[in-house]
Amino acid sequence: MKKLIAQGAEAKLFLEDGKILKNRFRKTYRIREIDYKLRGFRTRREAKILQKLKAINFPAPKVIKTDEKENLIIEKINGKLVKDSLDKNYSKICSEIGRKVAILHNNTIIHGDLTTSNMILSKEIYFIDFGLSFFSEKAEDRAVDLHLLKEGLESKHYKIWEECFKCAIGAYKKEARRSHETLKRLEAVEKRGRYRAKKGS
Ligand SMILES: Nc1ncnc2c1ncn2[C@@H]1O[C@H](COP(=O)(O)OP(=O)(O)O)[C@@H](O)[C@H]1O
Ligand SMILES: [Mg+2]
Repeated sequence: MKKLIAQGAEAKLFLEDGKILKNRFRKTYRIREIDYKLRGFRTRREAKILQKLKAINFPAPKVIKTDEKENLIIEKINGKLVKDSLDKNYSKICSEIGRKVAILHNNTIIHGDLTTSNMILSKEIYFIDFGLSFFSEKAEDRAVDLHLLKEGLESKHYKIWEECFKCAIGAYKKEARRSHETLKRLEAVEKRGRYRAKKGS
């Protein structure tokens, strides 16, 4: 039995046999060849990053299977989206988020879409949705990642976002290598425009 649980701009998420199937569906407004390449690229990218995360014991879903084209089957993480559970304990949760983003960055992984819809609160916080992730050692890329986290908090949690971001950055600083350079770069990034990648495009 296959049950649709979420549909975003580029993928449909199904619950099937207790596992999550992420299907990147065809975008008819894209040129066919480009669409095919992009979906394959993001599917393989997400699988590759998730495998790397497993190797370093980072809380993210395990890859079960992929066709390396449009389907990715991953472990289901039980819990609530951080988006729906941030109202209570937000300083503790946001500190954990900051610490975990630092671990990603220490391993040269940029998430690319750090929002509270891409985090699940289970026994600990799990990160999901690595389709826009990439490897980088640039302070600029880490700074943009943090900036997107801030924008996401600002738009989805507008009453508490400042406190949330402060806690996240405080914990990030403690855990991250090269945090001085990254946070300095963040100041420059803030002075420029918006950065959110458009998944649908
Ligand atoms: N491994 C998982 N375990 C449980 N729920 C998941 C999992 N992966 C995705 N989801 C659910 O599906 C939603 C969309 O998945 P996501 O990977 O973020 O795709 P999208 O690109 O559409 O944002 C998530 O916000 C979450 O509610
Ligand atoms: Mg998502």
